[in-house]
Amino acid sequence: MRMRSTHWVRWVLKPLVFTACLGPLVYLLWGLLAGNLGANPIRTITLETGTWTLRFLVITLAITPLRRLARWSDAIRLRRMLGLFAFFYGTLHFTTYIWLDQFFDVPGIIKDVMKRPFITVGFAAFLGILPLALTSTAGWIRRLGGRNWQRLHRLIYVSAICGVLHYWWSVKADVQRPQFYATLIGLLLLYRLVVAYRRRAPHPVRSTVPAADLMRRVP
Ligand code: HEM
Repeated sequence: MRMRSTHWVRWVLKPLVFTACLGPLVYLLWGLLAGNLGANPIRTITLETGTWTLRFLVITLAITPLRRLARWSDAIRLRRMLGLFAFFYGTLHFTTYIWLDQFFDVPGIIKDVMKRPFITVGFAAFLGILPLALTSTAGWIRRLGGRNWQRLHRLIYVSAICGVLHYWWSVKADVQRPQFYATLIGLLLLYRLVVAYRRRAPHPVRSTVPAADLMRRVP
């Protein structure tokens, strides 16, 4: 039974989720070719890729609670892919900025990162997910050890918080949408803190996930 469910996730659910995750990219490419991305297509691409980066960060963070609350342990098998999609859209977003917005003007970009707080936190958010993408392989879990790897991957919370601040500071007046993402991230963080507190409170023995178990989750 367990074997069958693992096969279903690997051969059916994962390819389906992967295809769905490419949706925003297809939408943007299609819009670009058809010329219907509005009066300022570069801005549309920047805003869409930025929003999708944040959405994927939130979806990735929601996997662990979903796994526990819905008792769906196989959900963990989607987490790495979803996190890599956050990085993928983040890279597209950043590339749009340095290429189509700043035309690779490195001194100008550095000045922008130093001077505009909303760009500074966006940059910090991107720097936060970079090591996570680079160390997402089974080889890196082995090299770092399960516990250190897990510690490093908590950086995703820093990225999500910086990402939402970046969003909040980028909008001029209506903060309703950044507020929505801030609430989601706050709830997800609160959930993790409660779980961590409960684990530690009654038993002094800490639970550790062995590296071998983490690697099993990485296909
Ligand atoms: C994890 C990293 C990042 C996330 C989650 C993120 C997210 C977002 C979001 C949600 C928006 C607003 C979308 C909207 O208003 O509908 C945005 C806008 C923007 N972001 Fe990012 N961003 C990230 C990194 C960066 C980086 C590294 C840069 C450049 C150094 C950057 C530059 C911009 C710019 C220029 C805008 C457009 C602002 C405007 O024209 O109103 N972002 N980003």
